Amino acid sequence: MSLFKKVDELRSEFKQALASSPALSDLERIKQEYLGRKGILNDLFKQIKDVEPARKGEFGGLVNVLKQEVQEAIDALLSKTASSTGASAGVDVSLPGTVYQRGSLHPLEQTLRDIKSIFHRLGFSVAEGPEIETQWRNFDALNFPPEHPARDMQDTFFLNNGSVLRTHTSPVQIRLMMDEKPPIRSIMPGRVYRNEAIDAGHYCLFHQVEGLYVDKNVTHGELKATLELFCREYFGSDVKLRFRPSFFPFTEPSNEVDVTCFLCGGKGCRVCKQTGWLEILGCGMVDPNVFKSVGYDSEEYTGYAFGMGIERIAMLKYGINDIRLFFENDVRFLKQF
Ligand code: PHE
Repeated sequence: MSLFKKVDELRSEFKQALASSPALSDLERIKQEYLGRKGILNDLFKQIKDVEPARKGEFGGLVNVLKQEVQEAIDALLSKTASSTGASAGVDVSLPGTVYQRGSLHPLEQTLRDIKSIFHRLGFSVAEGPEIETQWRNFDALNFPPEHPARDMQDTFFLNNGSVLRTHTSPVQIRLMMDEKPPIRSIMPGRVYRNEAIDAGHYCLFHQVEGLYVDKNVTHGELKATLELFCREYFGSDVKLRFRPSFFPFTEPSNEVDVTCFLCGGKGCRVCKQTGWLEILGCGMVDPNVFKSVGYDSEEYTGYAFGMGIERIAMLKYGINDIRLFFENDVRFLKQF
């Protein structure tokens, strides 16, 4: 058989092989058989040496044409088989996959973690106490006189058995000092309750972080330095602090602390009500009467305490204008953090 005739013969053999609509695996095998390195077409090319010199060019051209036909026919079938596989299974491979939304930490939890980590580096441990307290720990031991207005029904939730929902985290100071001897250096985060008219700035519950440091020779200077360091870490290194004289029954002297407004930098704006300052916490030196109620000798020990509202700090930091948003658990609010 002449080699020219063999080219035609191979063409009809190839067409026959494809006529039986081969499966994908068969197609791959046929492709290899014809176009592979040791395949039929390469074999044919090699036989060019047996063709009479005058017709070598013509023969090579014919084999090239056949090779191209084979290549195109197989590629067309391969792409058809691939796309019909997905379609017949009812799968649109171009659709995006299922997206699982991850939750995020509640902004109060994030704020608390940031506060904890700063005080952790300053050597403060973390202590906690219950939300239902005795009036003694919530008020008396903290030097509130019996007729103090904060005990009024307006502010405090009283339970039938005479206990209260704690109105601040300061009773945890009492628990800590009655359980341990100085030195004490702890922060005490937790939930507190107040019977208030609810609006954008007030809710019936909120969270505080209490701080207490008791040892020999603890000074007001250390209190200022500690709070200054905390505020610079939390609000930024160029923040300034202002200590204003204030009053709490359980500290003497007492201060309220303001920081320069993070929004206007102290010039005055809507957030700081044109004052340039934002009030962020209350603090002071532990009153000797408090030491007396827990059995500490106030001649031997001194200490400082501070308390800050977590909601307030989070609202300032994130620009949140309504405290109720923290408690509604609306995902549209939460997922922004
Ligand atoms: N317990 C005070 C409050 O709830 C805050 C405070 C704590 C002030 C510790 C001084 C020292 O307002």
